[in-house]
Amino acid sequence: MEKTWWKESVVYQIYPRSFKDSNGDGIGDIQGIISKLDYLKELGIDVVWLSPVYESPNDDNGYDISDYRKIMDEFGTMADWDEMLEEMHARGIRLVMDLVVNHSSDEHAWFAESRKSKDSQYRDYYIWRPGKDGKEPNNWEAAFSGSAWQYDEATDEYFLHLFSKKQPDLNWENPELRNEVYDMMKFWLDKGIDGFRMDVINFISKEEGLPDADNPEGKPFAPGGKHFMNGPRIHEFLQEMNREVLSHYDVMTVGEMPGVNPEEGILYTDSERKELNMVFQFEHMDLDTQTGKNKWHVKPLDLKELKHSLSRWQKGMEGKGWNSLYWNNHDQPRVVSRFGDDGKYRVKSAKMLATCLHMMQGTPYIYQGEELGMTNVRFDSIQQYKDIETLNMYKERVIQNKEDSAEVMNSIYSKGRDNARTPVQWNDSQNAGFTEGTPWIEVNPNYKEINAEQAMEEEHSIFHYYKNLIRLRKNHEVIVYGSYELILEEDPEIFAFIREYHGEKLLAITNFSGNNPVFRLPEGLQMNNPEILLSNEEDLEGSHEEFTMKPWEARVYIV
Ligand code: NOJ
Repeated sequence: MEKTWWKESVVYQIYPRSFKDSNGDGIGDIQGIISKLDYLKELGIDVVWLSPVYESPNDDNGYDISDYRKIMDEFGTMADWDEMLEEMHARGIRLVMDLVVNHSSDEHAWFAESRKSKDSQYRDYYIWRPGKDGKEPNNWEAAFSGSAWQYDEATDEYFLHLFSKKQPDLNWENPELRNEVYDMMKFWLDKGIDGFRMDVINFISKEEGLPDADNPEGKPFAPGGKHFMNGPRIHEFLQEMNREVLSHYDVMTVGEMPGVNPEEGILYTDSERKELNMVFQFEHMDLDTQTGKNKWHVKPLDLKELKHSLSRWQKGMEGKGWNSLYWNNHDQPRVVSRFGDDGKYRVKSAKMLATCLHMMQGTPYIYQGEELGMTNVRFDSIQQYKDIETLNMYKERVIQNKEDSAEVMNSIYSKGRDNARTPVQWNDSQNAGFTEGTPWIEVNPNYKEINAEQAMEEEHSIFHYYKNLIRLRKNHEVIVYGSYELILEEDPEIFAFIREYHGEKLLAITNFSGNNPVFRLPEGLQMNNPEILLSNEEDLEGSHEEFTMKPWEARVYIV
């Protein structure tokens, strides 16, 4: 397997709005990021993935871009951004920017021109269709509720928006549009960035004719994913992007790809095919959703399903593609609340989850605050929520469909994106040290107990444990490049696996429960005199061959 820097890196995601405010306007900004680079250096991460900082009306917090070459006023200036990049590079930290080109903002100059007339030279930058029988051109549902089409009076046609109506989809069938995107990518690469995270990049090629979605329940709108996820020209587009842009730079790329399976994952990440380096897949994020329902309908996680899914990706990519590893990002609830125990065993279970993930093959991503064990939040009122997906869902279910609001609030408590977007908890002063003004979204009230200042002081904190995980990855090639073998496949509480590389062997054993299951090394497996590499327990009982596990225990042996 080819060795590369991005396989050996740990990435830290910054969601700038919620990271650190420097000027008291309640909104995180670039100077705030600069002020925390020493903290990131101390943690030991190699790469920052920065969620969008471009000019935007913020209908979807920057994922609706009105100028791809400008910095959002609220976050600072291009001079601030230049300074940030320089300060990162001075510390040996690379920068990956977010590339959001499935759609732009409706306030982008291209769209302003496009909507003016059917003859505009920008008309074809977007996806316009006449209505059908006085209704939308097809029955696709937008990710943020309602139809994926918006009627526009000026030309009496509809435009497609897979997300909010302020995020019109760009038309990748148009070669001029593609060239504009490539030019813009070069603009940032020439400024010295180290890669791109590509927003829903497997949505850019839509099936010809935009056929209706299956709709067995006869709802007004239905998810049309099958007609635009991994669409007919997606590999052609990515290979073109690679040829025109990426191949000329030493950068890393990760494609966000809902609805991708390991077979497709290989097509996207096999280095010989020259597309991307890795993908963010969602299989493991969907396991606590009821079958056939959308994400808001939650069911408890079945550990066997999680093991099966992650192992399928581990084995599937081995030697062919490359995995990215994550539990969290700005769209997901906090993992310690989701798959761990954010009460009595918060610290233990957060460390266990980190161990399991960081000992797998792939590039790990840490989402801001994850290294502190930050938890989900429960605001009393819908007024305290800010996320467009959450607010639209609430309107549709409670106001339109008259569903029980308490039940809908419960969906929000477990799955709402704002769980990940409350400000980073830096210390126990007012507003958790995030801002001296009024934060754009309230801080999680648990900041007095959970904050960075305290975590850095405490020897056994989650922060120091993450630091250790990152350091170990640097010292043991088996963690990066080793093969993967799941053991105890049928165990409902223990997730254990073996990694192996050039004679070095590693055994990771994690308990995904508050119970005391017994671990027994399967017969025939040889681990001669292994040493403990890491654990979230101080007093370890038993041997690597057999022991009773403590609640949420994790231990890693190495030979
Ligand atoms: C995925 C992003 O991660 C999410 O935050 C955003 O709302 C959608 N794509 C649309 O850009």
